[in-house]
Amino acid sequence: MEIRRNVSLKAFNTFGIDAKANYFVAFGSIDELREILTDEEYKTLPKFVLGGGSNILFCKDYEGMVLKNEIMGMEVIAEDENHVYIKSGAGEEWHKLVLFCVDNNYGGIENMSLIPGSIGAGPIQNIGAYGTELKDVLVEVEALETETGKLRMFSNEECKFGYRSSIFKMEKGKYIITATIIRLNKRPEFNTKYGAIEEELKRMGVSEMSVKAVSDAVIHIRQSKLPDPSESGNAGSFFKNPEITKEQFDKLKELFPHIIAFDTNDGNKKLAAGWLIEQCDWKGKRIGNAGVYKNQALVLINYGNASGEEILNLSKAIQQSVMDKFGVVLETEVNIV
Ligand code: EPU
Repeated sequence: MEIRRNVSLKAFNTFGIDAKANYFVAFGSIDELREILTDEEYKTLPKFVLGGGSNILFCKDYEGMVLKNEIMGMEVIAEDENHVYIKSGAGEEWHKLVLFCVDNNYGGIENMSLIPGSIGAGPIQNIGAYGTELKDVLVEVEALETETGKLRMFSNEECKFGYRSSIFKMEKGKYIITATIIRLNKRPEFNTKYGAIEEELKRMGVSEMSVKAVSDAVIHIRQSKLPDPSESGNAGSFFKNPEITKEQFDKLKELFPHIIAFDTNDGNKKLAAGWLIEQCDWKGKRIGNAGVYKNQALVLINYGNASGEEILNLSKAIQQSVMDKFGVVLETEVNIV
């Protein structure tokens, strides 16, 4: 393993922020990870594990060691009549796994096509899109406990998944995810309830449903709504959709009859943050090098050479206007480092 000094992280985060890491190292196996964690010379340095860098905003240089997870591999480890179980290394790209499933008509993650980022980042925030979340297919997570160097398996329940949340997010830094095992369906049942998917399938003229058809529909929708990180730096939704009680919602609905919300499992309401932000006139706005995407107000954009601080300041101004107009707290979804 080569430990590098003063490395630009620009190519390692989809926002394209040019922050530097004091130390940078890539690890390709559990043994290498253990080696670096126990190295006497670097033991006391703060450490930060980076996956695909698609959900992160670097606001300053990182005064410690960035560890890039490059544990690879993707294999079917078990199967029965109806299911296959796939184990993937945390350093693999999420969409590569989706494509593997599409090619084999294994159902379960097609609605999460084209989510940028690595496999290992998936469980941390329980990635989700178009009515499906990782927790719906996840069987186990393999992770290394940083303090002891021990490998531990987490069952789905032990991951404590919530909306864009998990034990790995709540106990930040305690575990480093090394692999995931997910279960896919050989006789897929499709979840096309999320409005736009059905419309898109119709537009595509799909007559026979397949994992590929749904995946293609999701890819088209994402491409039309979300900016391509290789063209303009972004990290997908910058904020979470806020959850409020039914009582709070009823009051807001009286003031704003067109407010968009979804029922949650526990009787609360989840507001569409994109709508709230759009109502505050932020959609398509640009301040210096930072801006709000024209097709989806939940996405912030780096127009070129924005600093992390510039993006952060824009996000704070948005949070303030949503608070002023609706009395609603917008929490960031992206990790601010
Ligand atoms: N909306 C607006 N204005 C906007 C954006 C959205 O009025 O500028 C409205 C839409 O018309 C729609 C509703 O808000 O009625 C929801 O919008 P959308 O379907 O685009 O989804 P979202 O709630 O904004 C969430 C996820 C996305 C995921 C989509 C689709 C979060 C924080 N974001 O966005 O995930 O792709 O649903 O399932 O939950 C991500 O996490 O990075 C991400 C992109």
